[in-house]
Amino acid sequence: MVKLTCASSFWALPASIRPLFRSPHLVLSCRRYASKDVSPGALTIGGHSYPIDSWTNVPPNILAQYGRKLHVQSDHPLSITRQLIASRFPSFRNHDSLPGVVTVEQNFDSLGFTPDHPGRNRTDTYYINQSTLLRTHTSAHEVDVFRANESDGYTISADVYRRDAVDKSHYPIFHQMEGALTWDRKAFASSEACIQQITKDFEALPKHPLVVEDPNPTYQPSNPLQTQYHSPEEAEILAKHLKRSLEDMVVTIFAEADKGLAAAGHRSKSEDEPLKVRWVEAFFPHTSPSWELEVWWQGDWLEVLGCGVIDQPLLIRAGQPDRIGWAFGLGLERLAMLLFGIPDIRLFWSTDKRFLSQFSEDGPIRRFQPFSKHPAAPRDVSFWLPKTDAPIITNTPATASTAASPAGGQPTEPSTSDQAPPAFHENDLMEIARNVAGDSVEDVTLIDDFTHPKKQRRSLCYRITYRSLERTLTTEEANRMHDHITRELIEKYRVEIR
Ligand code: DAH
Repeated sequence: MVKLTCASSFWALPASIRPLFRSPHLVLSCRRYASKDVSPGALTIGGHSYPIDSWTNVPPNILAQYGRKLHVQSDHPLSITRQLIASRFPSFRNHDSLPGVVTVEQNFDSLGFTPDHPGRNRTDTYYINQSTLLRTHTSAHEVDVFRANESDGYTISADVYRRDAVDKSHYPIFHQMEGALTWDRKAFASSEACIQQITKDFEALPKHPLVVEDPNPTYQPSNPLQTQYHSPEEAEILAKHLKRSLEDMVVTIFAEADKGLAAAGHRSKSEDEPLKVRWVEAFFPHTSPSWELEVWWQGDWLEVLGCGVIDQPLLIRAGQPDRIGWAFGLGLERLAMLLFGIPDIRLFWSTDKRFLSQFSEDGPIRRFQPFSKHPAAPRDVSFWLPKTDAPIITNTPATASTAASPAGGQPTEPSTSDQAPPAFHENDLMEIARNVAGDSVEDVTLIDDFTHPKKQRRSLCYRITYRSLERTLTTEEANRMHDHITRELIEKYRVEIR
């Protein structure tokens, strides 16, 4: 059997290749929304009522989990991870409770996302209506926080929402932490004086024993200096300050992870080799130059964060034309999983005492002790897709289909039963699986993709793995969930089961 990697959506692509997908002819498609998925009228989220329209695609199971605030729940591993990171930025102001419903303007436009950016697609993002969505990243608040101008440095920690793959490291709600630091050029007599201050601040940062690979110049055509706004010296010192600050943060996290491993009787990683990181060029609409920081961890390079020199037009939009600085963003789950050895992202949502009682804000990091392992119930679903001119997205980056994006602009009509079915997008199957099976679905993987040479019809086979973290599922339960998912696929996408 062919094993295909079921890479998830645009957001899951390494940031370094995401710019490729900005090209108009590589933009992913947007499926039409089936209006029967929501009740007519309005949605109430966090005490506010929002009108719905043909863009609405946020399902009830997501709304049911809105507002859990795991990142500030005491003794929760996500909160412990957040605090550990914040402790390396003691002078920063921490924003931990900004509401998750934001405008398209906040989430995309204010950051300079192009109108055809694929992150805007409804296949990737939960829309409440055409102009309102569940934030896809904490950067959605950058402009507002810069505008308020309450501190030179800040962090933003929050829940973020993305339509994405189902597997042990992807969940449609996860948590990010954003950080930024700026200096006010106006506060200095000259640009040189400002650079001198940043240099002084850089020299005061803690030194670390990390091995750092940083082969590229600070800026070059592929990762440009903002020539209109920054002198080369300004960009150089900002990059230096940024990199040292984030290296220090990463050392702290990984040293704690290492201590946790050693305390649990594992061999400490640093005994084998010193901690190693590398800087990789990246692209973000809201920074330039931009980088990702990767850490060598258990035999692999692990992408930990994205960062860069803040896009000056963004600061100008925020009413801070004289401020220059850097910003970063990271996913808290990924770091918490390695810090505590948590093997499945669904565990963060557990209310089971056997999970929650293992973590404490006071005291050292302790490795998670699995309290049970229930058997997996894998089931395959194999189907012919209907013949359609619309693009079919199975999301493997190499084969991502191409179509014009709605670009956050034109709403499309809801589909009705006598219209052609919406094009199949893998994230739709992910969502059906989550809606039907909740946290009892562990993984959905494309295992076969085949086009019949004569019939010119495409067949897909997905393996859906059912496994509860809390109990053993019966054969009947797994079958019932699987039948339900299959029925929804037939009804919504008119697939033909093989
Ligand atoms: N918003 C980016 C994402 O979700 C992460 C990010 C990258 C945030 C660079 C930043 C930054 O502040 O400077 O993928």
